[in-house]
Amino acid sequence: MNTTSVTSHYGHADLADRLIARLAEHGIAPERATLDHLLALDQMHLRGREATLELGESLGLGENMDVLDLGSGIGGPARVLAAHFGVRVTALDLTPEFGATCSVLNEIAGLTDRITVVTGDATATGLPDAAFDRVVTLHATMNIPDKADVYREAFRCLKPGGLFAFYDVTAGPEGAPHFPVPWAGAAEISHLIPVTEMARLAEAAGFHQLDLRDLTEEARARIAEQRAAAERQRSEKTAPPLQAGDILMGAQAADKQRNLRRNLEEGRVAISLGLFEKTG
Ligand SMILES: C[S@@+](CC[C@H](N)C(=O)[O-])C[C@H]1O[C@@H](n2cnc3c(N)ncnc32)[C@H](O)[C@@H]1O
Repeated sequence: MNTTSVTSHYGHADLADRLIARLAEHGIAPERATLDHLLALDQMHLRGREATLELGESLGLGENMDVLDLGSGIGGPARVLAAHFGVRVTALDLTPEFGATCSVLNEIAGLTDRITVVTGDATATGLPDAAFDRVVTLHATMNIPDKADVYREAFRCLKPGGLFAFYDVTAGPEGAPHFPVPWAGAAEISHLIPVTEMARLAEAAGFHQLDLRDLTEEARARIAEQRAAAERQRSEKTAPPLQAGDILMGAQAADKQRNLRRNLEEGRVAISLGLFEKTG
């Protein structure tokens, strides 16, 4: 797979510096920043921390488990899982600027001893066999044409009895998405398939399916709440909340967000959670 178009979609120069400058604009010096401050900037998936915690609960995460996060972005989910459940996380992402930013934010959050940052491809991680208790991926496989390769890697890297979960953007029933969207400027790097097909591929990789859930309604509701809050803030002329969508999404950030909302409303994309076991 040619991954350059994916890394150039996501990667921006000076990302960590720009996020730190955004914290400073809100009166938060990096040495005073906490995990809670970072949460407003670093969860690059719908329903942010809440969805990350739900995923952690579904996976029965416990103290000192080893978790692999495929497509970990700037490490938002890794930090939430490490801080909340006491797990160790290997945060693997294709985009080098995201790995570098993840390391800076781990330092700020005081979690460098719990999170190992790896720049790599989820379809061929190079990580050892049977090294992890859990494998997760959140809103990352929509850029990957051959999801079977990701599921085979997850299966290989898991210990027998280990669990794998995806929380992903999947194809909706109502046709192709409008572009640009947060994960792709155009159709070339967007590879959505229906969740039932994803589950079939995961089972073909050796997994036993435990759960498959549609979370599209929950995502729509959260976006509606956020829009209502933004509208109130505009009409009451209060200070805008801390956020970094414009920094992380770069060019056409507002169009990307608008199209994501429209695609969800029109049934062109869905949000799905799958949970699988490597029996043995
Ligand atoms: C929308 S972000 C989600 C990041 C993170 N999972 C989160 O929820 O905050 C998608 C991420 O997938 C990564 N990605 C895309 N293709 C990948 C691949 N083949 N291997 C590893 N990471 C990949 C991108 O670099 C990007 O960081």
